Amino acid sequence: MPLPLPRLRTVVLVAGAALLAKRALHRRIQNSPLWPLPALEEPVSGHSERRTTATRRLLITERTIPAEGVVQLRLEGSALPPWQPGAHLDLLLPSGLVRQYSLCGDPADPDTYTIATRLVEDGRGGSREVHAQLHEGEEVEIRDPRNRFPLVGAPAYLFVAGGIGITPILPMLRSVAASGADWRLLYGGRTRASMPFLDEIEKLGAEGGRVTVVAEDEAGHPDAAAALAETAEGTAVYCCGPEPLMDAVTAALPPGRTLHLERFTAGAASSAGSGPFEVELRRSGRTVRVAADRSVLAAVREEVPYVSYSCEQGFCGTCQQRVLEGEIDHRDELLTDSERNDSMLICVSRCRGERLVLDL
Ligand code: FES
Repeated sequence: MPLPLPRLRTVVLVAGAALLAKRALHRRIQNSPLWPLPALEEPVSGHSERRTTATRRLLITERTIPAEGVVQLRLEGSALPPWQPGAHLDLLLPSGLVRQYSLCGDPADPDTYTIATRLVEDGRGGSREVHAQLHEGEEVEIRDPRNRFPLVGAPAYLFVAGGIGITPILPMLRSVAASGADWRLLYGGRTRASMPFLDEIEKLGAEGGRVTVVAEDEAGHPDAAAALAETAEGTAVYCCGPEPLMDAVTAALPPGRTLHLERFTAGAASSAGSGPFEVELRRSGRTVRVAADRSVLAAVREEVPYVSYSCEQGFCGTCQQRVLEGEIDHRDELLTDSERNDSMLICVSRCRGERLVLDL
């Protein structure tokens, strides 16, 4: 039965008022400084290249041996996030270990990531697991690529690579060779047979003597100081390899050159050596006590088990968190000065006072 006219008018007026009130509330929420509310699973960070906790599974479509003791894996998906030379991804191994590997394939291929790893028998287990357990036809889990070693524009480039440290450098070489830039490479390794990608690299540098390969069993260690002495002012120097090689390059760098280092082993970072303090996890509404002999990460994980981390040594950046209050005692060599203003790597860095507040 149809409603009487006055009652129908009342219903329409009430419905209209409710709709207006709902829109006003929505506008008010959107204009609020708290909007959008950060999800607890996705901590906000002060860095634009902040990793996400998103992972994806990729199929291993090819496993090759590009040099003695080195396995290369071709990982396929579809419409993968793009990457640039210098980028690396996190490999989440079946055992739970997480390891970083540079991408050494073609950034123009939207469906493939390629990584290579050298077997380190007495290492921490990541390379042993990759070599023993990852085979063609299996799936692996990764976190999307990040780039803390980007190729900057420069009038000239010197690349210095030691052994498997060639992996982030290889896509850079392809890029600068294709662009016609002025570049040189000093590439050292134990033996030529142990040095991956030699054929391709020597072809890239076939003209102009751009590539110097130094196999230790033939010619000893690469002379980084001599290579640096030949660079012109403004040259961008990129180095990845064992710590002694990176130390040698750092020590011999002439003025007026920019240095870019990529570390995949621990530097001098340490979380030890300061007194206890408190860490408030503002969004979780919890406070944890960090003892003198524990890391912030270890204490935080007791309350927030999903917090992301990987190397636990201050070189991968996975555990970076935004700091809202307190004086940070930075113990890493990874973050930039601007990142240090409002964020920290909680696996190694600590507090200079008695209390820190994290956006977590
Ligand atoms: S977990 Fe790698 S920097 Fe902290």
